Amino acid sequence: MNEFSNQSEQNLSDETTRQYYYLEKARAHTAVFASELGHAPTCCVTTFGCQMNARDSEKLVGILHQAGFTVIDSEKADFVIFNTCTVRDNANQKVYGRLGELNGYKKKNPRMKIALCGCMMQEPSVIEKIRKSYPFVDLIFGTHNIFRFAELLCRMFKSDGMVVDIWEDTDKIVEDLPVERKYSFKSGINIMFGCNNFCSYCIVPYVRGRERSREPGDILREIKHLVADGVVEVMLLGQNVNSYGKNLKEPMSFAELLREVEKIEGLQRIRFMTSHPKDLSDELIQVMKESKKICRHLHLPLQSGSTAILEKMNRRYTREQYVELALKIRREIPDIAITTDLIVGFPGETPEDVEETIDVVRTVKYDNAFTFIYSKRTGTPAAAMENQVPEAQVKVCFDKLLKVVQETAKEQVGKYRGRVMDALIEEVNENDSTMVTGRLSNNTIVHVPGDASMIGRIVPVSLDECHGFYYIGHCV
Ligand code: SAH
Ligand code: SF4
Ligand code: F3S
Repeated sequence: MNEFSNQSEQNLSDETTRQYYYLEKARAHTAVFASELGHAPTCCVTTFGCQMNARDSEKLVGILHQAGFTVIDSEKADFVIFNTCTVRDNANQKVYGRLGELNGYKKKNPRMKIALCGCMMQEPSVIEKIRKSYPFVDLIFGTHNIFRFAELLCRMFKSDGMVVDIWEDTDKIVEDLPVERKYSFKSGINIMFGCNNFCSYCIVPYVRGRERSREPGDILREIKHLVADGVVEVMLLGQNVNSYGKNLKEPMSFAELLREVEKIEGLQRIRFMTSHPKDLSDELIQVMKESKKICRHLHLPLQSGSTAILEKMNRRYTREQYVELALKIRREIPDIAITTDLIVGFPGETPEDVEETIDVVRTVKYDNAFTFIYSKRTGTPAAAMENQVPEAQVKVCFDKLLKVVQETAKEQVGKYRGRVMDALIEEVNENDSTMVTGRLSNNTIVHVPGDASMIGRIVPVSLDECHGFYYIGHCV
């Protein structure tokens, strides 16, 4: 028991105070851990899944660092945390495979601690399986109580067995906890959590809870701090950013939020993810068009080009509405790159339906598209649907779609050959240390000769050779 244990109804600032209190305690536990190990403890956070998870991992790293851990890239660390994803079954399988490897490391380093968190942990069947088959795990928590990580660390250190703490939901948004960015010059920012859309194939609403928007004041304050700390590009994150602000005490649209973010001095680039087509407003198109900072890239998931399938997916737009919207965006903002997500093999999908998807790909001409094979997620409406598509048909349709996606993307990306455009230099090229890798406003990657001193700078580059999805160029 401690001085905070009776405060069940805390307001947000109290929760923050509470976690800083536990952070102090965690630091003491880490010191003991260090003396047992005989060296300063190392930790490693491995992220699976989307940008939201990547941002969550930065929050975990922030806490771990302040608790006294040295953060390293290798999973041969004294403490390993897997921040998991469950959007498709292969994401889950990866986690189980890697857990097997961790077991091997733990046998060599018996004091090693292992924690699991993230979306997969919100599924009761997963917890059951881990208890049974992976008993060497020390701590499990979910998406709704991640802000309690400092407190959970203390519980882990005090306990002999596996600590499991999963919440069904939360209405809390806890501000001002530590966070440590992976990149010094760019950062993701959560503007909302959860999802209310319940697309019939998707597990996200079940594992991330209902939609909650952060107060605009908190978002703007965080971005201003980041900019003061050297950030030039932000990515506003939400499962459906176009419905931002609807449930705030003083409602605000996403377009209005963007106008405010634009005003922040020193900030140079604004990105956002993801836009649901059904909620994309003319106001947003107008704001993007007028903006000097919003990047020329829109990720607009189509999922399927067949209206019949879209209806079964509960996407709430038709093929025609989507195409009209995409073409309107292309008309209004001619240099914009549009990317998308596509699913092949949704229950009841015929080869003719896939032809309709291919047709939309040809019409919209995506600059890039992520093509996924439908994965049955237990508990979603689609899992109970009849007519699950045979694997052989899925494979043929998938390959056919992928080919068209690659062709149109190559054509789209190649359009800029010979042009000079601004690139934000992000890192030294992994394969060739005399080159650096940058990103154009439209999200295309370009490799140019350079060195680490250029990282974080926006420089004009000439786009010399197009290699499918990326360019080789040079600084001008
Ligand atoms: N909120 C975002 C998407 C988040 S999930 C949006 O609606 O745009 C990212 C992508 O994973 C989705 O766009 C979808 O294409 C894919 N996806 C989600 N559930 C899936 C499933 N059960 N099987 C295959 N792909 C899926
Ligand atoms: Fe999933 Fe649909 Fe929500 Fe995206 S909008 S997270 S696909 S339910
Ligand atoms: Fe995966 Fe969760 Fe993101 S299921 S895609 S990590 S919201």
